[in-house]
Amino acid sequence: MNGKYETHEHDVLVIGAGGAGLRAAIEALAQGASVGVVSKSLLGKAHTVMAEGGIAAAMANVDAADDWRTHFRDTMRGGKLLNHWRMAQIHAHEAGDRVRELEQWGALFDRTEDGRILQRAFGGHSFKRLCHVGDRTGLEMIRTLQDRGVQMGIDVYMECTVTRLLTDGDRVAGAFAYWRENGRFVVFKAKSIVLATGGIGKAYPVTSNSWEYTGDGMALAYATGAELMDMEFVQFHPTGMVWPPGVQGLLVTEAVRGEGGLLRNKLGERFMQRYDPQRMELSTRDVVARAIYTEVREGRGSEHGGAFLDISHKPAEYVKRKLPSMYHQFLELADVDITRSAMEVGPTCHYMMGGLRVDPETAACTVPGLFAAGEVAAGLHGANRLGGNSLSDLLVFGRRAGFAAAEYAKKQSWPALDPAEIAQGEGEMLCVFERQAGDTPYAVHADLQQLMQNLVGIFRTEEDLKSALTGIERLKDRMGRVGVPGTRMFNPGWHLYADMKSMLAIAEAVTRSALARKESRGAHSRLDYPKTDATWGEQNNIIRRHGSEMVLEQSPVPKMPAELQTLLAEEKGAGA
Ligand code: FUM
Repeated sequence: MNGKYETHEHDVLVIGAGGAGLRAAIEALAQGASVGVVSKSLLGKAHTVMAEGGIAAAMANVDAADDWRTHFRDTMRGGKLLNHWRMAQIHAHEAGDRVRELEQWGALFDRTEDGRILQRAFGGHSFKRLCHVGDRTGLEMIRTLQDRGVQMGIDVYMECTVTRLLTDGDRVAGAFAYWRENGRFVVFKAKSIVLATGGIGKAYPVTSNSWEYTGDGMALAYATGAELMDMEFVQFHPTGMVWPPGVQGLLVTEAVRGEGGLLRNKLGERFMQRYDPQRMELSTRDVVARAIYTEVREGRGSEHGGAFLDISHKPAEYVKRKLPSMYHQFLELADVDITRSAMEVGPTCHYMMGGLRVDPETAACTVPGLFAAGEVAAGLHGANRLGGNSLSDLLVFGRRAGFAAAEYAKKQSWPALDPAEIAQGEGEMLCVFERQAGDTPYAVHADLQQLMQNLVGIFRTEEDLKSALTGIERLKDRMGRVGVPGTRMFNPGWHLYADMKSMLAIAEAVTRSALARKESRGAHSRLDYPKTDATWGEQNNIIRRHGSEMVLEQSPVPKMPAELQTLLAEEKGAGA
């Protein structure tokens, strides 16, 4: 104990225990740092497991012509060239090594006949590139990283929510948090921090994300002075379950289409012919999600407001072997045997391309001592992420963030904790018990989700985005008045109160950025600006905090070296 609260000290504190957090922790440990990993949830329960279909890495095990250049090109084209070129280059270069390393640590991949890691097709990738374990790749990755990290000696603080980052001057000094079980506060002192908290799916009602994904890392860093980038780019995965209502949004892996699944509307048409006749079902996610949405809006959707995804033309044994989770998911949750009948699917909020602005080499944020990796960080995926690039992203940049955070920590003395900041952290969590219970965090959350779905969803307009901003202001005002009944013990309403602060800040950042970008690009579709605009192609939207104001400005997209530009221009790829 240090002063008032239970206190733990680590050279490197990792916040978030999904793939990026675990990979960062492993690397920081390997560099000799003492490492603590704080997880809001249980170890192993991460959105990483929702990347089911595979890890993208140009290993050329199935298609010999693949290499880092083609992977780089597909990633840039899929991201509509808004990606940070250097992140895309590093990612394409290093993904293969990270996969091989994972295999050495015990991951059991599916194999080719001659014993190499098997790779499958995915949307926007020119070659069969996704290293996979059936349709449970993310799960196998988490299992492997978790075993490795625990074996190496990471300290894990589970079911512990960070509500504030602590600073010493302009550098980070630690984090203020509470134990979810009993509400007791806990302080972490650290020389450096890696944020790996994932995205913001729970700001939308239909999402593949589970309860943890409330934009915490982005909001914590933003409050501390870090910059957010390209927040308008929210990915709707084309295929979530649409029926029954209790499982709406649950992911139906892109591997179904990778293994030959076909999309049809209620008329039986393979409607992708209208939207991308060359790539059809293996078009990029932004295109397929818009296509399904449009089919439904124009009256050609399925009974429950989606499209049909059919793999029943493949032998039943093949489907069960390649897609065992999907087979069980539909049988158990929807009473549908996918070896005989089509699945009903529709877009589900899945991933955030925007996030914290980071240095491509080190994953450093714009606040000294703060690093970010995985979905919480922006830059690699540009305006639209290709499936499978998230798992390789978190391995490549998780490792780099862990390394850089450990190096940074080596050069620093211990920071001082500021009692005033700790008192503020305590006050902002406790004030809610003083207020009259009336409006609840649940009601505000439900209203935010509806607002984001209706006004900041797949298609956007200036009018909708302006009314979304007004609505978010009203919700913030309501959150300033909500009360939470009960005590700090086992209190889900109090947990949601903490989450709502993050969700509202990040929802505002998404909406402001979407309003500013007057063009359509990748996952950002403006009905009032339907064309891609070359001028906007050279601008990243940057958000930072000035006092209590959220300020947005544009910053030029970093210039790509000539040899990479030639590579993009000259050769053909599926991501165009
Ligand atoms: O469809 C999927 O398996 C998801 C993969 C991803 O988001 O990368």
